[in-house]
Parts: sequence; C-alpha cells; structure tokens
Amino acid sequence: TRKIIIDTDPGQDDAVAILLALGSPELEVLGLTAVAGNVPLPLTQKNARIVCELAGRPDLPVFAGCDRPLRHPLVTAEHVHGKTGLDGPQMADPVMPLQEQHGVDFIIDTLRAEPSGTVTLCPLGPLTNIATAFARAPDIIERVQEIVLMGGAYFQVGNITPAAEFNIYVDPEAAMAVFASGVPLVVAPLDVTHKALTTAPRVEAFRALGTEVGRMVAAWTDFFERFDKEKYGSAGAPLHDPCVIAYLLKPELFTGRFINVEIEVNSPLTRGMTVADWWRVTDRAPNALFLGDLDAEGFFALLVERLARL
Ligand code: BDR
Ligand code: CA
Repeated sequence: TRKIIIDTDPGQDDAVAILLALGSPELEVLGLTAVAGNVPLPLTQKNARIVCELAGRPDLPVFAGCDRPLRHPLVTAEHVHGKTGLDGPQMADPVMPLQEQHGVDFIIDTLRAEPSGTVTLCPLGPLTNIATAFARAPDIIERVQEIVLMGGAYFQVGNITPAAEFNIYVDPEAAMAVFASGVPLVVAPLDVTHKALTTAPRVEAFRALGTEVGRMVAAWTDFFERFDKEKYGSAGAPLHDPCVIAYLLKPELFTGRFINVEIEVNSPLTRGMTVADWWRVTDRAPNALFLGDLDAEGFFALLVERLARL
C-alpha cells in the first residue's frame, strides 16, 4: 500500500476524491489536512469530517491547517460549491472530533516519523499548508515521495480568472514554493480534469449503487453540475480532484508530459497562471509531470467500482 496525506478544501469534488481514496485498498490515508479554499477553514475541516463519517471512517485523523493564503486575502468559490462548500444533499453535522494539532504540524511530524520517501502528498486545494510545512521544516522536503496535486491549466486556461485555475490563484506564492521545491510533482490541470465529466448515465451509475455513498455522490454531482453546464455549456461537471487519486491508482489512465511549469505571482492580470512549457520552447529544467489526457470511461469505471466498496 501507498501512504498518503490528503490536503483538501471540500468541495464536492474533493469529497468524491476522498471517498475514492478510502474505497481503495492500495492506499493508506494517514490523515486529512483541511485548508481554506472553496469555503473558509471552519467549513472545510467540518466537511472533511462529514466525508470520513460517510465513508465509515470516523477513526481517521482530520486536522485544520491554514485559514488564509500566505500573502493575499482568501478568495472562495461559493458560486461553484454553495454556501457550505458541500451544497446538494442534506447532511448532518459530524460527530467525529477535529484533531487538536495544527494540520501543518501533522504534515511535518508525519514526514519525519515515516521512513523517507514513503509518504505521498495529495493536495486538492490551495497549496498553503504544504508550502507552510516546507518553509517551517525544510528537512521534510527530501522525505516526500511525490506530490500529486490538482491545480493549474494550460490549454484550458482559467476558471477563476481568464488566466488562472482556482487552487493556484488562491495562493500563488504557496504554489511557487511547491513547484520550486524539487519534490517529484504530478499535476492534474483543468486540461485533464475537464475530461472527467459527469454525464447523466455516469451520475445514474452512482445512484444505482443503492448505497448512502452512491446517493450522496449523485446528489453532489447534480448540484455541482449546474455551474459548469450554465457556464461552459458542458455535458456535466468536471470531477477535478478525483483525478489525483485515480492517478495514484491507475496512472495508465492518464497521459502527460514531463515539463517545466512556473507560477506567475507578480502580474495582476495573470496572477496564479501556470506557465507550462508544453512545447519545450525554453531550456528551463522540467519540474512536473503535467497531465493532459484521460481515459474517461476507465476513470468512471474505477470510481464506481471503488465507491461500491464503501
Ligand atoms: C479546483 O478548485 C476547486 O473549486 C475544486 O475543488 C478543485 O480543487 C478546480 O479549479
Ligand atoms: Ca478542491
């Protein structure tokens, strides 16, 4: 099994990613760290606990991390995810506890305690917690096995500004630090996540599981869908964050290029842009496997199969 820490700002698509991980025996989730992103931290940490309980895993440690980006005020995405961040179905408040330790300290302690090169970080939101951990404890950087994250865009460009994807835009300074860290990086940008589109039959397949998890995932994707349908005229909602977990489980579902990716932090117009050297027109050293294509049928088959185990 592969040990992972999920760093997240749930978010319906984060929730589905967490469920996919918890339904997969190949992955050992050491803990979840919440970050401010789609909605403020008090809601993201609560939503993370709701999802763990839904998966029947109230034993998992959930930590609250950073409540704001490194340098800029928090930008949220209630216009996509609703007021709670998990709008759609009615959900009861979680009863499992929030850990007292700060999420950043959990990341640092875990990377120091586990054998070097055995823990993968899976950021599904702004990169504030990861960058803060790296800044505070640089010794952990070389101990990270890999970072597989959802963020950025190249051909598909922006969803929060014309140039920037939400997770990177919210904390570009944090993203810059992570992309410059030297840790092996795999990036699932909008280019690939917009291929993981829910369609009516795909949502039906969730519902047809006949389980609480299936019903919730269907209700979340129904809610989440309305935004992308109206906005982009697309068939359904992109399941952004589950691409990260699917990559860990079945990398052969994806193709991409190992290229140089830099983060724009200065320009007011393009702040948070992932400047991806897809055509290798510079001699800047490659630092990320930037995913570009996805076998969507294989992706949804995997998702349904794993959700069925919960
Ligand atoms: C990313 O932003 C959030 O709204 C989603 O949860 C995803 O992580 C997509 O741009
Ligand atoms: Ca997210």
